[in-house]
Parts: sequence; structure tokens; C-alpha cells
Amino acid sequence: MKTGNNNEIRRICCIGAGYVGGPTMIVFADNCPHINFYVVDISKEKIDAWNNEDLSKLPVYEPGLDKLVRECRGKNLFFSSEIEKNIAKADMIFISVNTPTKKKGIGAGKASNLIYVEACARQVAKHAKNHTIVVEKSTLPVRTAEVIKKILGETQNSVTINSCKPTFDVLSNPEFLSEGSAVKDLNEPDRVLIGGESKEAIDILSEIYKNWVPEYKILHTNIWSSELAKLTANAFLAQRISSINSISALCEATGANIAEVSRAIGTDNRIGSKFLDSGPGFGGSCFKKDILNLVYLSKHFGLPEVANFWESVVEMNNWHQHRISRLIVQKLFGTISGKKILILGFAFKANTNDTRESAAIQICKDLLEEGAHLVIHDPIVNSNQIAIDLESNSIVNKNKKVIYKSDNYEGNWSYTDDINSEFVNTHAIVILTEWEDYKKIEWSNCSKLMKKPAWIFDSRLIIKPSEVLAADLNLWQIGYGT
Ligand code: UDX
Ligand code: UDX
Repeated sequence: MKTGNNNEIRRICCIGAGYVGGPTMIVFADNCPHINFYVVDISKEKIDAWNNEDLSKLPVYEPGLDKLVRECRGKNLFFSSEIEKNIAKADMIFISVNTPTKKKGIGAGKASNLIYVEACARQVAKHAKNHTIVVEKSTLPVRTAEVIKKILGETQNSVTINSCKPTFDVLSNPEFLSEGSAVKDLNEPDRVLIGGESKEAIDILSEIYKNWVPEYKILHTNIWSSELAKLTANAFLAQRISSINSISALCEATGANIAEVSRAIGTDNRIGSKFLDSGPGFGGSCFKKDILNLVYLSKHFGLPEVANFWESVVEMNNWHQHRISRLIVQKLFGTISGKKILILGFAFKANTNDTRESAAIQICKDLLEEGAHLVIHDPIVNSNQIAIDLESNSIVNKNKKVIYKSDNYEGNWSYTDDINSEFVNTHAIVILTEWEDYKKIEWSNCSKLMKKPAWIFDSRLIIKPSEVLAADLNLWQIGYGT
């Protein structure tokens, strides 16, 4: 824990205790013991979970997070449902609520729904006292800060009887953390971006970061550049994944090997070696949503060619996920109806319990549509979450086994927390998340129990082909042409 000396800011409130707000404030609290952090959320259930004595029950799973919660909670870090009171007492407020893609109305399917952000701004406007710096942490479409400013501005300009009018500065400070490595990313960010008009407010927020981030990494921009930079960073990263996944299909068709191609292009300094792993398609709460936002904005500003360019990144991702489910069906003789298939991994990547936009959702839905019986395993994601994602209900069948089914799909699925007990009569094993546990599977043991000819589908390139082939199993690996 480091110490600092920020006179101005003594009390920070963060609205939204989710995957971004929770870890961000925990790392802030660890690095700034002289500031008190109050994380509030409309979900009482979530706040209770953050306050749970049993640290394995925190609502967000991130390596190293439980240790920090143990150190800071109750000292300078508090999780609370008292939103209004904590807004009123705060010197600085972070808005870290979710901004889902709009389902209806103008921009449906693409634009972000700002209803929660607007609601927060109104709450802040109503309850804040004195001067408050409002920091936009959620990823938002460009020019959202303007909405926040307008709502806050109305309060600022309105006549109040007590003449105790609050005043506001609005900053954009997008978060670049990656789930699964959030603690490290927050402690050692590549950069911190602060956009805003008030130099004084920017300096105050910079001072807080300087408690643990070197000054040269703190970039100041105008507010719109900051908002657009966040969308662009996610769009570029997602574009890399779609690019490499598109080439993986070509590798399979031509006999090249995607791992070799990635290594070869990654040694070019201009390209760089990171984010070149072909997989089952990108997931997570941000990539798709942010690109669709970019698409919407481009169309809105009369740039259809720009919109089409970015939309193709999402289209490639969708196509790629269907491609994987189609080839599973093909390899299993064109039908998987009633066949038992073991799915390894449901989270959108390893080391997180987050399933939002996980490739596993679409691939499992495709396989269920073909009538398969899936047995799904994930070391962290629980069956309730999978049931929500696959829109299914549980039924207890005559062997007292819980089976899940949906009216939308012919097949059904069950959950297992012990993969070793599920190899019997399995036609195929499909690896969808790169959890370490899956690298340790004894393929020779599992082969003896599987239904032959049995297939292993490795969409994450994590297993050694020689071990699988020696065990008399068929193997498909992403981007591996034969
Ligand atoms: C993610 C992204 O990381 C973020 O950048 C994006 O803009 C939205 O989605 P995340 O923290 O992952 O944010 O979202 P989530 O885990 O859903 O957490 C948001 C929290 O805000 C929820 O716990 C929700 O209950 C809370 N919330 C929402 C409020 O407290 N008040 C509201 O008015 C609305
Ligand atoms: C992303 C951004 O990286 C982060 O900066 C931003 O703040 C939020 O969105 P996140 O969604 O947590 O972070 O995970 P990330 O590691 O970027 O992975 C996104 C998806 O791409 C995952 O499904 C992952 O499996 C996939 N991926 C990533 C690949 O398929 N190959 C890669 O080489 C890297």
C-alpha cells in the first residue's frame, strides 16, 4: 500500500459496483489509504455480496481481488446501498454503471442505452452538495459527457432557496482493464486517460492516480477525444481478433498453421505479438457493444463507409462462432441429435466468472438447436448463470439428475463440476475457454471411456496434439490445417 497527500479529495463515491466499478475502487482504496471510498449500487444483492465475510462469494472473480478486499474493507473502502447519502457527502463521484445496447427505438441493436447514466446524473444533480467532480468511468458513446453536463448544469443554474447550490466539473476517465487481470491492469496501467475542460479538475484526478501511476503515463485530452479513444481502443483490439480468426479459417482450408502465422507476423515490431491468439470469437461486455456504438455514431455523422468497415468486425465474429458449431456437426457425421458432447468452459475468457457475450453461448445454442445433449463445465461459472444465458429451465429427470431445457431448442444440457465423471459415452469434447485445468486432462484415460470414433475440438489451442492423437482420438484445433 502506498501513501499520498491529496488535500482536496477525502471522500469518493462510485455509483455501480460491477466488473468495472468494484475492482477499480478496490485498487484505488489500496493505493490511497488517505481517501475513503464508498461504492454504491442499486442492487442490494450485489452490495451484500461485496460485504460477504466469505471472500469466495464476492460478485466479481478476479485473481488477487479477495486479498485487497480483506485489507481495505471497513478501513477506507465501504460497499453501501445508501446512494443518496453517499452522493451528498462525496467530493468526487465516479459513474460506473452499465450501458447496454438499446433493444428498442432509435439506434436499436447498435446505440448504447444511456438510461442508467442519465438516471445517475439526475441523482447526482439532486443530492450533491458543494463542488463535486463527476467522473465518467463507463464506456460511453462520444459526447455523452455533454448529456451529464447538461443535467448537472440545470441544477447549477437553477435558483435554490438555501443558496447552497452545488457546482460540478465533468471528466471522462475511461477504464482499460481487462477482466481476469484487472488487479494488475489497474495497478500497472499502460496509460491513464483523463479528458475534460477544467484543468483544475483534471489535475485533482491526476494527483490521485499519481499515488501509484508514474506521471508520464497520465494523458490529458479533451473530453471527446477521451471518449472516442476508449471506443477506438476496443474496436482495434476486436478487429485484431476478427482478423486472426478469419485467417484461421484460411489456414484450415490451405494446410497452414495459425500459431505459426501469428508468430511470424507478431515478430514484426509494427504489428506486435499480443492479441494474436485465434479462438472461438471475442466475447466480453465491451467489444461488440463498443463497435456497434462506433457503427451507430458513424452512420449518424453521415459516414456509412466507416460504419460498414467496423460492422464487418462483428459480422466476422458471428460467422466465426457459427463456423465452429457447423464443423462440429460435420465431423460428427452430420448429426448430433441425442449425442453427448462435453463443453469445457463457459466464461468468455479464463480467470473470470463473466459470461457476457461469451462465444460459448452462441456455440452451445447452435449445438442445442441440432438436438445435442450437452454436459457443460466451467471452474467458476455456475449453472444458474448458464441457464440464464441459454434461456433454459431446469427439469429433474427420473434419475434425479437436473436437466435444463428451453422451448427454443431441441436438445438439452446438464451441468457438471467434475469432468472426470463425464467422459463415459461422450462423442466429443469441445474446449471453449482456456482454463488451466483443461491443459492437464489425461487424454489416454478419457479416450477409454468415450464413444468411438471420438473427437476433441480445441478452439483455444491449449492441448498438445501428440497426446490426443496417441490416445486414439480425433482432433480438430482452430486454424490447424492438415
Ligand atoms: C461494463 C463496462 O465495463 C462499461 O465500461 C460499460 O460501459 C458497461 O458495461 P460493468 O461494470 O462491467 O460495466 O457493468 P456491470 O457489471 O453490469 O455493473 C454495473 C452496475 O451498475 C450494476 O451492479 C448495476 O446494478 C449498477 N447500477 C446500474 C446502478 O447502481 N445504478 C443504476 O442506475 C444502474
Ligand atoms: C477488453 C479490453 O481488452 C479492455 O482494455 C477493455 O477495458 C474492456 O474490454 P476484456 O473484454 O476484459 O477487455 O478482455 P480481453 O482480454 O480484451 O478479451 C476479449 C475477448 O477476446 C475474449 O473473449 C478473449 O478470449 C478474446 N481474445 C483475446 C482472443 O480470442 N484472442 C486474443 O489474442 C486475445
